[in-house]
Amino acid sequence: MARNVMQVKEKKDRYQVAYIPGDDSGFDVMEAAMIVMQALDAPIDWVRADMGWCMWEKTCKEFPEGDKRRNTVPQETIDKVRNTDATLMAAITSKAGVKGFKSAILQMRQIFDLFINFRPAKLMPGLECPLKGDPKIDIKLFRENTEDLYSAVEWRPLPREMFDLHPGMERFKDKSEVAVSWRVYSKEGCDRIIRAAFEYAKANGLKSVVCCNKANVIRATDGMMKERFLEIAKEYPDIDSREENADATAMWLIKNPQDYQVIVTSNVFGDILSDEASQLVGGMGFAPSGNIGEEAALFEPSHGSVPKYAHQYKINPCGLLITAVMMLEYLGLNDHAARLEKAIGDVLVESKYLTYDIWRDDKGDKDWEKKAVSTLEMAKAIAGKIDPDFDKKADEICAKAREMCAWEHLA
Ligand code: IPM
Ligand code: MG
Repeated sequence: MARNVMQVKEKKDRYQVAYIPGDDSGFDVMEAAMIVMQALDAPIDWVRADMGWCMWEKTCKEFPEGDKRRNTVPQETIDKVRNTDATLMAAITSKAGVKGFKSAILQMRQIFDLFINFRPAKLMPGLECPLKGDPKIDIKLFRENTEDLYSAVEWRPLPREMFDLHPGMERFKDKSEVAVSWRVYSKEGCDRIIRAAFEYAKANGLKSVVCCNKANVIRATDGMMKERFLEIAKEYPDIDSREENADATAMWLIKNPQDYQVIVTSNVFGDILSDEASQLVGGMGFAPSGNIGEEAALFEPSHGSVPKYAHQYKINPCGLLITAVMMLEYLGLNDHAARLEKAIGDVLVESKYLTYDIWRDDKGDKDWEKKAVSTLEMAKAIAGKIDPDFDKKADEICAKAREMCAWEHLA
């Protein structure tokens, strides 16, 4: 039987985990996470690695234009991700229109063939769903992570000979400029994400899996996804399966989100639907994401790196901490995962130590500026819920976290 990719390859007494502070506010939340992780004291040895805009700037100084080592992802980081049991990564910064620049996360998904993007949406205690009637939302979204429009097979302008490939291109022949991005699906690509979703449902006693596609219009690619879904669903007779149009899903997620348990979908639709689902449970600041494949698993929060607040400790650390919960579950450290999740919930319910974004966006408090504590203060409150003796060790733990996430040498 194929191994369960949602779990680490090999069970161990201690794990090695690479941590990537990312860019800008990423460093702040990773420092916060390292305070909390020290209080949690899981059997993990942390291995520092770097990736993102900071590495692009650094390698641009080191290597001449055109040199392959100019990259957001250094070889050293690839090796560390390969040689550890999992990777925890904070947000990175992307800048459009920079010649030679390639997104670090997109590269990692391809390098390690991280075909699952697991994006659950569940309301944490202390947060409110913006929808009427407070529906029970607990959605596990499986986004295909390597194919579709993310295959990076694109032309602009489209070479002349390509216009003869398909009769449908006839009407574009006299346009001033034509750009084409290929949407590539493979049967293997469809099968493995669909199976991952069903296997997850089966292993976790979930009763329904929904495939979201646009087979009614995009017949070749989504037609294949739908056909493979209906075929594979027969192997899981105890699970209710249905397929629907992804635009309808976007609507039903607002109307009846409680009707979804497991969703499986393509890369682009998953990108969009997961952002939508996050808004039902507190926003992007609370949305975790796991990029998972046979060879590696890289866990990152869905939110961005908020460059304007870089190194100011303003944004909330929950996105990365909930991502850490997911990573601990992947490692099979379920007790640690549960303790961490409970501590985050306790601080949210207590509503004393919250960052500005939670006061403003989740609590809708007009005094959000006055009430806000820093990223690190909120992390310390969470650490205090995990370890009642935290205060006594706080100075030492905070200094260590600061050292683990030093960024000055990269600037
Ligand atoms: C995400 C992001 C990425 C994506 C970007 C940053 C490349 O939006 O992880 O959802 O498009 O996949
Ligand atoms: Mg996205």
